[in-house]
Amino acid sequence: MKHFLDILPTPVADLRQMIDHARAMKDARKDRPKGMCDDETPLEGRMVALIFEKPSTRTRVSFDVGARQMGAQTMVLSGADMQLGHGETIADTARVLSRYVDLIMIRTFEEQTLVEMAENATVPVINGLTNRTHPCQIMADIMTFEEHRGPIKGRKVVWSGDGNNVFASFAQASAQFGFDLVFTGPKPLDPEPEIMEAARAVGANIEIIRDPMAAVEGADLVVTDTWVSMHDPASARERRHNQLRGYQVNAELMGRAKPDALFMHCLPAHRDDEATSEVMDGPASVIFDEAENRLHAQKAVMRWCLGA
Ligand code: CP
Ligand code: NVA
Repeated sequence: MKHFLDILPTPVADLRQMIDHARAMKDARKDRPKGMCDDETPLEGRMVALIFEKPSTRTRVSFDVGARQMGAQTMVLSGADMQLGHGETIADTARVLSRYVDLIMIRTFEEQTLVEMAENATVPVINGLTNRTHPCQIMADIMTFEEHRGPIKGRKVVWSGDGNNVFASFAQASAQFGFDLVFTGPKPLDPEPEIMEAARAVGANIEIIRDPMAAVEGADLVVTDTWVSMHDPASARERRHNQLRGYQVNAELMGRAKPDALFMHCLPAHRDDEATSEVMDGPASVIFDEAENRLHAQKAVMRWCLGA
């Protein structure tokens, strides 16, 4: 069973193949109406369930459209409306869904929910974001960097802000794809030590540099994300703003990176908090290519899971 639960446990050759495959599928349907199927429909006859226990725009729409372009049928389910949200176990839900559908994508809170779903499903399970990681996002981000700047191997990526779930998947990717990663942010918002240790144990080069100006020196890519994630308490907002203000990605910070450095943000953004609109809409920004590439990258992930 090929589940896509995280970047680290997925073989590096498979990750590379998925990204190349995504590029090829994107090129093959250039200028085609978005609702039209691909030339090849390898998911014909398959049923895909997309479960959301948290809000989503990109993940929801890109998985749905991507699956349909490959010939599958889809259903989008809200966790709150399922028995899952009313006491049915994850294990029972996984066993039942496996009798109806061929593939399950789930966005949830605790990583344990994803793990239990995968352990009990008899069909592949894809991680559509947990409190801990967001691997589909990073597949799209690597694809986007390489489209614009060529191989990411050996490049310097700097993350400025909260050491959250998206950063965690970047940390895992830095080991798998061989780029150098710098985290710059306040100590209380450091990434989970266990995430860092696991990535370093398989060769990741990740540094923590507190001074954002020093951190971005020579960066090929500067990345940030919201200061308050969906799983963070709303009450954390003011404290987070005070802690993170100095880590905003603005023109001054981008000016310290390489002249051709790119800027990324997984979106949704709180404009002029974690990044200024000047940067988000400026020449370095590839945020909408990133969003588009969720579609192409996840099509490759779904095909990999189903061996199709
Ligand atoms: N980047 C991302 O996963 O966006 P959504 O929350 O809109 O799915
Ligand atoms: N870190 C953000 C990412 C959203 C796509 C969150 O978890 O809310």
